[in-house]
Amino acid sequence: MKGVVLAGGLGSRLYPLTYATNKHLLPVYDQPMIFYPIRTLVQAGITEVIVVTGGPHAGDFIRVLKNGKELGLTHLEYAYQEHEGGIAEALSLCEDFGDGGDIAVILGDNTTDADISEAVQSFDGGAMVFLREVPDPERFGVPVFDPNDPSKIIAIEEKPAEPSSMYAVTGLYLYDNKVFEYIRRTKPSGRGELEITDVNNMYIKAGALRWSRLDGFWSDAGTFESLFRSSAYWAQRVTGRACEDFTRFFRPDA
Ligand code: G1P
Repeated sequence: MKGVVLAGGLGSRLYPLTYATNKHLLPVYDQPMIFYPIRTLVQAGITEVIVVTGGPHAGDFIRVLKNGKELGLTHLEYAYQEHEGGIAEALSLCEDFGDGGDIAVILGDNTTDADISEAVQSFDGGAMVFLREVPDPERFGVPVFDPNDPSKIIAIEEKPAEPSSMYAVTGLYLYDNKVFEYIRRTKPSGRGELEITDVNNMYIKAGALRWSRLDGFWSDAGTFESLFRSSAYWAQRVTGRACEDFTRFFRPDA
């Protein structure tokens, strides 16, 4: 399986941090954000990767990732998204790269310590999404489960005002090559983007979407709070020290 890392957009929710570089190159503790999703792919045995980026700082990626060897990649290529057309539009640029095979897609601002090797190895077509309980599902794509069969997703709603479950659809997806045909059938949403949720709903209609719970830490990092949370998690994980340790000396009672 080949891998796709989606790292476009303006990162406007993180202004002013993203005035001078791309969101996915900002630090998450001691690494550029995009290293984490690439490592998730490499850990699952996926070493042929395309990075889709865009915006005014696209050139910065080459300086940071170079040819990807330092991260364990055997092949790294780049695609340039000309407009902020959404996740599905960014993915549509990868059809040639996919070469008719299955692909693992990961959003460049998602960091996780979950191991997806088994899901990748046992993937046998259709689509696979990874779910995670979150306190704020209204920020994400949210699955609607079949009331008669709670193991079955009957729809995914994008940022619903009233989420029907406490799960987020994380930004990690496995697809067969039909994904490109489904993307061609999508229309821009209210926010003017081709939504990956619309593509996933097409797989649901075709009876070809499966899901799995993502174990371990997972967070996006596209807002100040989630960026801070991701850094805090990886700081603890890398140093083996508790978060309180980093702030202890700020407290007057310490
Ligand atoms: C995107 C997807 C959403 C998904 C989320 C995961 O949202 O549209 O379905 O749950 O990524 O990070 P965005 O944060 O790009 O608006």
